[in-house]
Amino acid sequence: KHKLKTSYMGQEVYYFDSIDSTNIYANTIANQASEGSVVVSKEQTQGKGRSGKVWVSDNDQGIYFSTILKPSIPISRASFLTQVAGAALATSLERLGVACQIKWPNDLVLNGRKIAGILTEMRAEIESISYIIVGIGVNIGPKTFEESISTVATSLANEGYQIQDLDLLRAFFIDFEDLYEDFKNKDYTRILGILKDKSAVLGKEIYLIRDGQKDKVFAENIDEYGNLIVRNELGFLEEVFTGEISVRGL
Ligand code: BTN
Repeated sequence: KHKLKTSYMGQEVYYFDSIDSTNIYANTIANQASEGSVVVSKEQTQGKGRSGKVWVSDNDQGIYFSTILKPSIPISRASFLTQVAGAALATSLERLGVACQIKWPNDLVLNGRKIAGILTEMRAEIESISYIIVGIGVNIGPKTFEESISTVATSLANEGYQIQDLDLLRAFFIDFEDLYEDFKNKDYTRILGILKDKSAVLGKEIYLIRDGQKDKVFAENIDEYGNLIVRNELGFLEEVFTGEISVRGL
């Protein structure tokens, strides 16, 4: 145990210099681990991104960690947890002097480019959740991105912020515990306040890519499930779900 101002979040830590993926490891220990346990690594050799993509996880370029949670919530609420984590990460980065934004549903962007990604995976029985793993990768160190990625990704160091891994983790677990407690208590006021406040998409015209189709819509709001409420070109409101894209079975 180490000095951390939380009651359970981040109190149990499994630390690695290198590992395949903190999400994969978390999955192997989740049944025995207590809620709020965290797997952290300086490097991942098989970092997983969303939609089956690779999350490049080199040493000294980022911090990679997965938090194990065991909430008693319906499966339908699980995908919102990714946004709760995003809200917490944005808040903690702000406390460290970094004003980033949240690109719905769950990317953190700085000066328009991605600095962090979240991959939430869960193990569920028919009706109930056994555990949820919230995996976060933050681009911290100086980094040269592949040309195809450099237009969409950046790092804290590349944008002029020197943040220590440990400072970020400590700050994050405090905010995450707070907002996760709100989430479990079905009190979404603070969470939604942050998501709206820091949103990079609300109040803007955006394009939605769904089933290979591109639709121009106006982003109006975020509801209590984390769905994006948009107005389509005919003037009708539509609800855009996050479920399928942010939560995948392990
Ligand atoms: C995304 O595609 O934006 C999500 C990236 C999530 C990366 C993190 S790094 C820690 C955890 N372990 C993984 O293998 N992936 C997540």
